Formats: sequence, C-alpha cells, structure tokens
Amino acid sequence: MADEFRFFKVNTGARIPSVGLGTYKAAPGVVGEAIFLAIKAGYRHIDCAQRYDNEKEIGVTLRKLFEDGIVKREDLWITSKLWCSDHAPEDVPLALNRTLNDLQLDYVDLYLMHWPVSMKKGSVELEPENLTKVDVPSTWRAMESLYHTGKAGAIGVSNFSSKKLSDLLDTARIPPAVNQVECHPSWQQARLHELCRTRGVHLSGYSPLGSSASTTAAIGVRNNPTLNTVAEKLGKTPAQVALRWGLQMGHSVLPKSTNEKRIKENFDVFDWSIPQDLCAKFSEIHQVRLTQGATFVHQTFGSYKTLDELWDGEI
Ligand code: A2P
Repeated sequence: MADEFRFFKVNTGARIPSVGLGTYKAAPGVVGEAIFLAIKAGYRHIDCAQRYDNEKEIGVTLRKLFEDGIVKREDLWITSKLWCSDHAPEDVPLALNRTLNDLQLDYVDLYLMHWPVSMKKGSVELEPENLTKVDVPSTWRAMESLYHTGKAGAIGVSNFSSKKLSDLLDTARIPPAVNQVECHPSWQQARLHELCRTRGVHLSGYSPLGSSASTTAAIGVRNNPTLNTVAEKLGKTPAQVALRWGLQMGHSVLPKSTNEKRIKENFDVFDWSIPQDLCAKFSEIHQVRLTQGATFVHQTFGSYKTLDELWDGEI
C-alpha cells in the first residue's frame, strides 16, 4: 500500500510532497549537483529562498533536468521566499519576478514571507540599523495579489509564532497555506502545530535534523539518546527517525544535505513507520529553539526589543 505520508494537502487543494530538499547554506558550485542527486533519488520538492543566494545555480540545474526529460515542471514543488528588505507592497512582485528569473521558472508552487521582520530596501547586511518596523498586513496584501497572478501557486509565511499566525489569519483575505518554521524532535512546536491543525495551515519543518544557523552539525540527531534508541530498535539511522517522526506528526520536512549518501538516506523514510509506543518516547526530549533570530532583535531598531517579542513567548 502506498505510504499515506508521501504528500500532505494544503488549503489550496494542492498536494505538497512531504520531504523537500533544503538548500540553505548549500554553497554555489555544490547546490546544483545536490538538486540533481535529490531528483534522481525521488525528491520532488525543493525549498529555496532569494536570501540563500543560490537560486541562479538552482535555475540552471532545473532547466537541464527539464530539458533532459528527467523530471517535468508540473511534477515538482518549488518553494521560494520573500526577503525582509522587499516587504514594501510595490517591491513584493519585483522580488518574485527576480526569483522566477533566477530559477528560470514561470511560477513557484509556494511563495513565503521569510520572516515577520522588515529591513531597509536594498540593505544586505543583517545590521541593527537596517531593521525597520514590520507591517505584516500590508505585505500580506501584496502577497495575495501575487496569488491572483498565477506566479505563486500558494502563498504562506515562515518563522511566524502562533500569535503572529493567528493575527494574520484574522485579517487575511487569502489565508496562508503554509507556515514554515524550525521543527524537529528537540523543538516540536506543539502549540503551533495545534493552531495550524485547527486553522487549516500546513506546517513545514526546517532544520528537521536539528541543525541551526550557527552550527553546521546536526546536533539534534547525533547526540539525542531517544533518537539513537528508536533508530537502533527499528534498524534505521537517527536522521531517518527524526524525519519519519515529523511525517507522522503531520508536517513536511526539509532536510538539507549536499552529500549523495545522506540525500538518499533522508528520502528513505517511506513504507515503514515508528510504532506508537516508540513515538511516545519523543515527549521526553528536552526542548530548545536553535534558530533564535537574535539579529532581528534590538533595543532601538526594528519591531522587537527582545526574543520574547519576536516569538511571542514561544522560546
Ligand atoms: P551535509 O550537507 O554534509 O549532509 P538540517 O536539515 O536540520 O538543517 O541539517 C542539515 C545538516 O545536517 C547539514 O550539516 C548536513 O550536512 C547534515 N545532514 C544531512 N543529512 C544528514 C544525515 N542523514 N545524517 C547526519 N547529518 C546529516
């Protein structure tokens, strides 16, 4: 029987492939090959962002994959994200056009507001002086217009706390299809999960192996005794257990790897499952948010004086 966790349905009716390749910190010169390997391994979902500075190379690879008949555009799910310096409503369509141009695509399947944080137009550095006041409703209106152009099959947000998501849902004409957030066994997001479930927003988990912006190592996976025990019992790797746990929790997972063996390993998470008694063990895992967004918090600049304000207490 086909594994029911291969796809999740989002509120537009589309089906999002449950395992996507993350491309954050996938260096130019490496990311194209990683995507090629991933598609060959069966991945049909690639998670990109303008901020990752590698969309041009991804575009070259995608074009080649299409031209060589290895995969069809309509069989792929491509996500990209609006960076914080493009939040002014008039800049939103221009930013998407830039991404489409770089990716060599006519549309993305999902376009996300990357952070609930605004920065000065044209700014590149994550310096406090570049932070400005965020105005989510006005940026969201511009995102809604994109949806109507057909250049974004779905629109959503990323790094939104339960409160920020709930506030947006209260005013949006088109509700976000997805909230992409850090999610792994060491940061399970129970409250946000529940909100997403009740309001029909799909949760997509980045850093599903528990790596963070400040570490390249998958700390969560390697050092976690619960994952190690479960993995040993099932004859799987701790990374596979972390990913499969995510699918069984109902969220898509976006593991990043540029290594062929690990790219394949991370997709081998179907047609087996973690039994209920072992799933129960995950509630014992100590919880810690790894990507805190400290660069977006400042006493004078921007919208958030503390991490508590950025995450509305979910820290
Ligand atoms: P690499 O690209 O060399 O494989 P996350 O998706 O949570 O951000 O984790 C990404 C990090 O975890 C990267 O450093 C990646 O390194 C590493 N990684 C990816 N897959 C695995 C795996 N199956 N086992 C251990 N580490 C992994």
